[in-house]
Amino acid sequence: MSYHNVTIAIAKGRIMEGTRSLWQQKGLPWPVDEDSRQLWFAPENERPGVLIARARDIPTLVGLGIADLGIVGLDVLEEYPNTHVLQVADLNFAHCRVVLAGQKNQWPVGPTRIATKYQRIAQNYFNVHRHPVEILPLSGSLELAPVIGLAPYIVDIVDTGNTLRQHHLIEITTILKSSARLIANQSHWRTKPEVEQVRRTLKNDDSPMDSSANFGPKGSIL
Ligand code: ATP
Ligand code: PRP
Repeated sequence: MSYHNVTIAIAKGRIMEGTRSLWQQKGLPWPVDEDSRQLWFAPENERPGVLIARARDIPTLVGLGIADLGIVGLDVLEEYPNTHVLQVADLNFAHCRVVLAGQKNQWPVGPTRIATKYQRIAQNYFNVHRHPVEILPLSGSLELAPVIGLAPYIVDIVDTGNTLRQHHLIEITTILKSSARLIANQSHWRTKPEVEQVRRTLKNDDSPMDSSANFGPKGSIL
């Protein structure tokens, strides 16, 4: 199968590291020159092209069909959803959780402020629990917020729990379990067989493509 027609969008950082290892495990040549500032690596017959973007922009780029496929954490997909994107595989790396944490192991009592970079995930969670909150958007260093009195609670990523512990914070509840997901442009998935072939190569899955697959209400075939 030739990949000269397929482009996949990824972000630098953990996703790129995990993707590089996966490419190496599956025998796909890794096209990205990580020492350069280049953001676009053209596809060739034996490997898909790679486009490097900010994680939060990847669902948009795939939804518009600029990239056929993308790799993002489920956290990013839930925070920046796109109706033209299908989730086609769990790639089983970048495991983490989006959690509610605070200085005590106690759910908020009464209206409270939540510092987070996951504004949508946090707001939806508290809406479901019919609990009034003020969301304070921050783009990083979330664990600092309770320590300096910005907000008593945070919604943030946890893996080992070391960062929370170092700031004397306690995980109160898990809101979302996340791992890296392969996403596809909905119409390219149905019309370009080589897009589905990338999924098969990455998942060792030889089952035939079902072009009439029902992707379910949340745009997922998982
Ligand atoms: P940005 O730098 O654009 O804010 P980021 O810091 O979330 O993004 P990374 O740290 O590379 O970027 O994380 C990429 C993805 O890896 C996240 O979307 C999440 O799914 C997962 N992730 C984030 N932090 C951890 C962690 N500590 N351990 C494991 N996985 C993580
Ligand atoms: C992430 C996240 C937490 C930390 C959790 O930060 O924002 O701070 O990892 O991991 P742990 O539970 O294993 O300590 P990251 O390392 O990505 O730094 P950044 O958010 O500043 O990019």
